[in-house]
Amino acid sequence: MKTELVDIKNLKEFAKKIYDNLDGRNILLLHGNLGSGKTTFVRELCEVLNVENQVSSPSFLILNTYIDNKKRKYHHLDFYRVEDELDLDYIGFNDLIENSKDLILIEWPDKFLDMIKKYNHRTINIYFNFIEDNINVREVKIF
Ligand SMILES: Nc1ncnc2c1ncn2[C@@H]1O[C@H](COP(=O)(O)OP(=O)(O)OP(=O)(O)O)[C@@H](O)[C@H]1O
Ligand SMILES: [Mg+2]
Repeated sequence: MKTELVDIKNLKEFAKKIYDNLDGRNILLLHGNLGSGKTTFVRELCEVLNVENQVSSPSFLILNTYIDNKKRKYHHLDFYRVEDELDLDYIGFNDLIENSKDLILIEWPDKFLDMIKKYNHRTINIYFNFIEDNINVREVKIF
């Protein structure tokens, strides 16, 4: 496990470092309270990766798929508003997580951890936490 303080200005650099150290893993679980920076992290990472879409929270659709200038795909999910596993089935989540080699980024993964935990060997967990007195910095734990 690693803990870092990440300033909003260093977030892009931090995102690149995470990407450069995937080591074959392709599932990023983004933990943390409302407003702790999960979507912002995805947005900065997508910029590093030259994604051409606009990055936003996948609210009603649950899943956003982005594509970069080399036609690689990235799947961004947000489980916050997902009510039950059937909704995930409906969007093909099980097939995606089981078979895809694309990078998969999931906000609020704790809601359906049972569906994800068997892919532990392909997973990196990132925890975003607020710190006192500085709204532009987050304590980030990686494991
Ligand atoms: N170091 C940091 N990393 C990420 N975001 C930061 C950081 N410092 C400040 N922020 C700010 O925190 C806010 C984070 O909002 P964001 O939508 O990314 O949170 P979220 O974790 O996705 O929330 P939600 O659970 O509602 O989806 C943004 O306004 C962003 O600018
Ligand atoms: Mg978000």
